[in-house]
Amino acid sequence: MQQIKFIILIGLVTLVSCKKSKNLSQRTVVSTEERIKVTPMLESATKQLMGQLDKAIRAEKIPRTVNENDSIRWVNPKFDWTEGFFPGSCWYLYESTGDPLWKDGAVLLQKQIESHKFRTDNHDLGFVFNCSFGNGLKITKDEVYKDVLVTAANSLITRFNEKVGCIKSWDVDKGWQSEKGWEYPVIIDNMMNLELLFEVSKLTGDSKYRDIAITHANTTMKNHFRANHSSCHVVDYNPDTGKVRGKYTAQGYSDDSSWARGQAWGLYGYVVCYRYTNDKRYLDQANKIAKYILGRLPEDFVPYWDYDTPDIPNAPRDVSAAAITISALIELDGFTEVSYLKEIDKILKSLSSDVYTAKLGENHNFILKHSVGSIPHGAEIDVPLSYADYYYIEALIRYQRKYMEG
Ligand code: GLY
Repeated sequence: MQQIKFIILIGLVTLVSCKKSKNLSQRTVVSTEERIKVTPMLESATKQLMGQLDKAIRAEKIPRTVNENDSIRWVNPKFDWTEGFFPGSCWYLYESTGDPLWKDGAVLLQKQIESHKFRTDNHDLGFVFNCSFGNGLKITKDEVYKDVLVTAANSLITRFNEKVGCIKSWDVDKGWQSEKGWEYPVIIDNMMNLELLFEVSKLTGDSKYRDIAITHANTTMKNHFRANHSSCHVVDYNPDTGKVRGKYTAQGYSDDSSWARGQAWGLYGYVVCYRYTNDKRYLDQANKIAKYILGRLPEDFVPYWDYDTPDIPNAPRDVSAAAITISALIELDGFTEVSYLKEIDKILKSLSSDVYTAKLGENHNFILKHSVGSIPHGAEIDVPLSYADYYYIEALIRYQRKYMEG
């Protein structure tokens, strides 16, 4: 049955990818002369990802990046922190175009990851389930998705330690993490898992998820950030006393440097905390992080992979950091008298240029080029990444809704 569904969907995708995306192209867009015209950008992104959806359905796999041998790298079916992003992009494009192919694609692909809602061995369930089933629930109101989110949140909070006041990011008994001597590592990326908890408290009326999210955000604010409002990547805690054992990096240039994607995760995370709590401390924190990031961007507003890497200007860029940053900035813009419009437009203009956006059908149908997974691990350097595309689409949709008429 599943097989038949895939075959029907392949046929439909092939048919539709040859046509123009009707809903988008028919919209009348009115914008001031200076504003970025995001509608054509979203149309091109939609066409590009339609080609990728076709590939994903044929392979029955979820795309992640491109291998060194120039083939698509699919997510690890056992578990992959990036597995929710492509289904999430499909949900966004379903919402934006109304084309049921996107919904069918999202449903079929996210089915592959549903059983991971029981995993308690890592913190990435927020990323995975909020982007996939979470977007699916918001768009379709399908109650089945609610159950999936609640189960995933219950799994995630098993990793919360009251003494520390944080959810543990990585287990330290396996993989490269086991060689570091860490006891209870918490990474800045973990701020991104809190949205699932806030959302599940809203869905269930049970405040325990939200309380954990708030405690985690407060502990992170206290221990991850430096005086200049940049953050380190990893804070290692003593799980018995809650004391900080040390501050490190795993994916940045050095323990004292500012890993670009980490700064973006922090910014996005505190904007989300403000959205759900209205607590001004989170808004202030987000504004301070934004100021730090914007003060360190190069001329074209697309960050190098680490703001402190000594090989700038020859260092690789990280487009994923730019995409996450811009999506967060669009939400943050207007919450206070601080305006980020000028910077938002500059980043979007750069990302949509030929330097960073692939031509239709190239780049294995990923939208954006030049992201970085992890330089210290020698992994995914100067490649497309599914999460760069996810946050870019999210940013385009947010921009369209917030700033454009029509
Ligand atoms: N959360 C993993 C990363 O940003 O690479």
